[in-house]
Amino acid sequence: MTSVAGTAASPAISIRNLFVDYFPRRILTDVNLDIPASQITVIMGQSGAGKTTLLRCMLGLKKPSSGSVHILGTDIVRASRRELNAVRKQMGVAFQGGALFSSMSVAENIQLALREHTSLDEKTIQIMTRIKLDMVNMLAAENLMPSELSGGMTKRAALARAIVMDPKLLFFDEPSAGLDPSTAAELDQLMITLKTTLRMTIIVVTHELDSIFKIADHIAVMANGRVIEFGTPQQIIASANPEIQGMLNRKPRENIVDTDAHLRRLVGG
Ligand SMILES: Nc1ncnc2c1ncn2[C@@H]1O[C@H](COP(=O)(O)OP(=O)(O)OP(=O)(O)O)[C@@H](O)[C@H]1O
Ligand SMILES: [Mg+2]
Repeated sequence: MTSVAGTAASPAISIRNLFVDYFPRRILTDVNLDIPASQITVIMGQSGAGKTTLLRCMLGLKKPSSGSVHILGTDIVRASRRELNAVRKQMGVAFQGGALFSSMSVAENIQLALREHTSLDEKTIQIMTRIKLDMVNMLAAENLMPSELSGGMTKRAALARAIVMDPKLLFFDEPSAGLDPSTAAELDQLMITLKTTLRMTIIVVTHELDSIFKIADHIAVMANGRVIEFGTPQQIIASANPEIQGMLNRKPRENIVDTDAHLRRLVGG
């Protein structure tokens, strides 16, 4: 029986024996993870650990070599395009960088999904857009173009776009990277509000320790393509794993790598 990181009570996402390759390199090795519904789960780990790749698998953007990814009961690895699209309608995504369409205003960017996936009338679309912009404190910026936004405003606009269809699941990659501390704290608060008011299941990839311990109900720690620990913030802090303690205490990675192997790599041996 495989040991699974996560909680038992009906998870929103359930990952089993997941192996992912960018051939010829293995990127994720035997990932097993249950992500609880209506909570915030943070995925943390060193740069290159495989966090974004894991997120891409959950979104159906990267096909694993083997294993399963059940989202709200559907295994999206084996789902038809139709089934995958149905699951995707329940997912909102705000990626690293924001990725707004530069030729459309903030409001138009946010309306896109409503125009594509619903037959709502124009007035309703505008009201729904304003409600979402108001939630992220961006009402005043509705007519600005993406190039006119600050970094924090871009993230908030991307978040408004991600939640416009009221998704059950929200994925957020590096929400606070590059933001000043007070804007980052605002974004943290926003995620907690989305969880408590809309009962969204939120999956956040981040390095920011302050933010992690403020928002996380659970933390999955990744290293070298594996989930090496899963637990509440208290459980992660209490972990006996030196690699995790290194991450929490911001120790440079050199302290824990094999120096001989590292030297051999440098000299190409
Ligand atoms: N499209 C790709 N083609 C080939 N290799 C890739 C690709 N995307 C990611 N990788 C490799 O997969 C590994 C994990 O990358 P990933 O982006 O998942 O890391 P990460 O944990 O999100 O890092 P960061 O914190 O820097 O964003 C890296 O070694 C990277 O080089
Ligand atoms: Mg990443």
